[in-house]
Amino acid sequence: MKEYIINSTIRVYDWDELAKEDQILLQAAKDATSGSYAPYSGFCVGAAVQLADGAIVIGSNQENMAFPSGLCAERTALFAANAQYPKQPVLSLAIAARNKAGFLSQPITPCGACRQVISGIEQRYHQPIRILLYGTEGIHVVDSINALLPLQFTDIDLSPI
Ligand code: THU
Repeated sequence: MKEYIINSTIRVYDWDELAKEDQILLQAAKDATSGSYAPYSGFCVGAAVQLADGAIVIGSNQENMAFPSGLCAERTALFAANAQYPKQPVLSLAIAARNKAGFLSQPITPCGACRQVISGIEQRYHQPIRILLYGTEGIHVVDSINALLPLQFTDIDLSPI
């Protein structure tokens, strides 16, 4: 029997400890929740993507009366960024969520499908994506999706015929 132990590093920052550009990106993610369409869950999620040239692209969760047809904030932002700026690698992704009571004290983390999409975009551009997760009691930061998605499916696993 062999055993592997997988470690992840998550750093937790107070707002004032963050670099200005990270504060701007997180604020964009918070603001993006106002574009959320969440009549079914009442849970508004905003995401903001920072590209290599400095551009910021936002997204928010878009629900649909056919429930599975909606899309998370993270993929809305990432796919919009890739569609509009296909030559620009994604450097950072900020995520914020609020419910009726306001922004959550503890951050949410991307769902499994979004994690796999983030992984695919890291591989596409050969560029780790920093992920900043907003909470009113602290901002959690990881340097790559590796920290949130160990043993991820990669293009090495694809063997097209
Ligand atoms: N949602 C996101 O947009 N991002 C996440 O990371 C988790 C969940 C959305 C999907 C749905 O519209 C609502 O939040 C409740 O699950």
